[in-house]
Amino acid sequence: MKDNIKKDFLTLKDYSKKEILTILDMAKEIKTDPGKYKNILKDKNIALLFDKPSTRTRVSFEVGINQLGGHCLVLDSKNLQLGRGETYADTAKIFEAYLDGIVIRTFKQETIEEVSDKCSIPVINALTDSFHPCQILADLQTLMEKKLLFKKNLKFVYFGDPNNVSNSLLIGFTKLGIDITVCCPGLLKIEDSLMDYLAKETAENKNTIFIENDPLKAAFGADVIYTDAWISMGQEEDKEKIEMMKPYQVNGNLLKNAKNDIKIMHCLPAHREMEITSEILDSNHSIVWEQAENRLHAQKGLLRYLYYK
Ligand code: CP
Repeated sequence: MKDNIKKDFLTLKDYSKKEILTILDMAKEIKTDPGKYKNILKDKNIALLFDKPSTRTRVSFEVGINQLGGHCLVLDSKNLQLGRGETYADTAKIFEAYLDGIVIRTFKQETIEEVSDKCSIPVINALTDSFHPCQILADLQTLMEKKLLFKKNLKFVYFGDPNNVSNSLLIGFTKLGIDITVCCPGLLKIEDSLMDYLAKETAENKNTIFIENDPLKAAFGADVIYTDAWISMGQEEDKEKIEMMKPYQVNGNLLKNAKNDIKIMHCLPAHREMEITSEILDSNHSIVWEQAENRLHAQKGLLRYLYYK
C-alpha cells in the first residue's frame, strides 16, 4: 500500500465529501482516458468473494481490475473452507498472506468489518444487507454526467422498500449535502440507527431527507426517480409486502404529472412489471444502462483511489 495506510471501502459513512468527489473525478478521468491507467494495479492480486449472486458487481470488478493491469480471482464461499465452517476471521488472515485486496458481497455488515479488522489489505463492500456503496458511486457518477448532481433544487426520489441501496443513497447524498426523498409505505421504516446517524449528518451538511408515503406527491416535480427490487436478495418472498408496495410501482400513471425530462434510475436487476414497468424501463427517460456501465468506471476510480492516488 502507498504510505502503508490501509484504506477500506465498507460504507460511505467513512468517506468525506472531498474523498467521494475525488473518487468521482478519478472515475471520470479513467473513463475518458482508460489507456493512461492500464498499469496502476500491476502486480496486485485482488479477490472477489461472493456469498450472494451478482452480475454487474462481479463482472465490472473483474473487468475493471484486469483493465487496470491487476490480477483478479473470483471466489465462491461455498467452494472455500468457509462453506465448511472456517471462520471469516481465519480466512481473512489467509487472504492477507496472498492478496493485495478483497472485494466481498455477503449478508452481514459485521462480516466485512470483521474481515477488515483481521487483515491489513483493503476490503471493499460489494453489497451487504445494510449497504451497497459501490452502487452509489456509479449512481453519483451518472447524475454528475447528466449535470443533475448539484442542480439547484434537485428533486431526487427513491421509490421502494428502504434497503441497502436506499441506505447508501441516503448517506451519499447527505455527505454531498443534497436533499433526497424516500417514498415508501408508512409501515416500512428506515432503521433507527441509520436515522440517528443521518440526523447528525444532515444538520452538519445542511441537506434534508424527506419521507413521503404518497407516490403521486413524491413523483410531482421530480427530476429523478430511482427504484429497486421490493424483495432484497436473501429475503423470503413476502406476498403481504408485495401487495403493500404495488402503489409504489414506477409506471406511466405515476409519471403522468412528472417533468417532461424526468430521468429514471434502477440499480438492477429489474423485476419488470413489479417495481417498474417495461414501458418506463425501456423509455427515453431511463438512464439505467448508463448507470450500470458506470459501475465499471466508478469502481476503477475507487481502485485508483485506494491503491494509486
Ligand atoms: N446492482 C448490482 O449490484 O447488481 P448485481 O447484483 O448484478 O451485482
